[in-house]
Amino acid sequence: MTHELDTLINRYGTDSLKWDYMEKWLGVAKGDALPSWVSDWDFKAPSFITQPLKERIDHGVFGYSERSDEYFSSVIDWWATRHQVDLRKEYFHTTPGSMPAIAMLIESWSNVGDQVLVLSPVYHAFYRTIEHTNRQLVVSALNNEDGYYTIDFEQLETKLKSGVKIMLFCNPHNPGGRVWTQTEVLRVCELCHQYSTYLIVDEIWADIVFSGYKFYSCLRVAPVLQSQMAVCIAGTKTFGLPSLRLTNTMIPNQQEAKALKSKLLAYGIDVYSALSLIANQSAYRNGHLWLEDTLKYLENNNQLLFDFVETNLTRVSYRKQESTYLAWLDCRLLGLSDDELETQIHKAGVIPTMGHSFGDQGRGFIRLNLGCPASVLNQKLSRLHRVFI
Ligand SMILES: Cc1ncc(COP(=O)(O)O)c(C=O)c1O
Repeated sequence: MTHELDTLINRYGTDSLKWDYMEKWLGVAKGDALPSWVSDWDFKAPSFITQPLKERIDHGVFGYSERSDEYFSSVIDWWATRHQVDLRKEYFHTTPGSMPAIAMLIESWSNVGDQVLVLSPVYHAFYRTIEHTNRQLVVSALNNEDGYYTIDFEQLETKLKSGVKIMLFCNPHNPGGRVWTQTEVLRVCELCHQYSTYLIVDEIWADIVFSGYKFYSCLRVAPVLQSQMAVCIAGTKTFGLPSLRLTNTMIPNQQEAKALKSKLLAYGIDVYSALSLIANQSAYRNGHLWLEDTLKYLENNNQLLFDFVETNLTRVSYRKQESTYLAWLDCRLLGLSDDELETQIHKAGVIPTMGHSFGDQGRGFIRLNLGCPASVLNQKLSRLHRVFI
């Protein structure tokens, strides 16, 4: 039986970063290459998102827009139902994407030269933002036991103790796909509190969690542990809306929120895209069943990859992701340099994100996007077979 997400959609000619800009950013001629790098998926948004957008477009007046009570309630209700988190309207700081919020928070809560810590390997833009805000990068390497990532709390504590001003925490984790447990989340929050380190948490993958795992938000820990905390949440990954540029950053402590509020005013980020608000509101209001079904589809892709690796490969290993649609493959046994690995994979017609962009701990790995029709994933896998065998 076919599934709606099996539909092949041609994204060429839509200014897609992933499809149209492979050549500009990676030097790969389009040809028949299958892009698997940028973390957006190739699925069409459901009609409960596109229909209200069409109606709004037909209205035709695109003046300045504010967030309505219904907008706030749609996010608050979603997070209460799905994640048992009690959000309040005053916590919200709405920005065009997560990285702008994270950058402004770094600027608000630290000074040039201050230390900002990440758990590596981690989402590459974290490094870029730390570099371009002129802060000092501190890396605490994750443990990797047969593909299962855990936090090295001893190492983390030693680094926090040395005067780290801000920790960036990705929950669930990209790449590596861990859904941090309640115990792990609590320990991170406790350590940051103990050493007066600001904690900026990126929870934009919170909704893409597979069966058997439970996401635990940092917003569920005791209020005292939230006194220097900001948490980014978004519908971008959940509903495939990254180009609509909308993230809500929650700051429970209103005193600590002042610096960000002031930055948002300085940069004029106090009015919002009408289309982004409508799309997100409708998604949060109507998306529960659709998301359940989409998660099953992604989980099936996750299984496809896992079975493929188990059956066919001996020198590449894959531990099934607990979260995200971004698979993290360990290719170190192939014995290739990152450049050689990249060249061979590109030659085979697949374009992953190379692991080293997530930090030194990602060397020898690739990240493969599973957010595509299963038939396309199968094509990617048979192409990779030639490289990996
Ligand atoms: C963990 C994480 N944070 C942030 C982003 C980017 O978010 P935005 O496009 O909202 O800035 C991504 C995109 O892949 C991501 O994976």
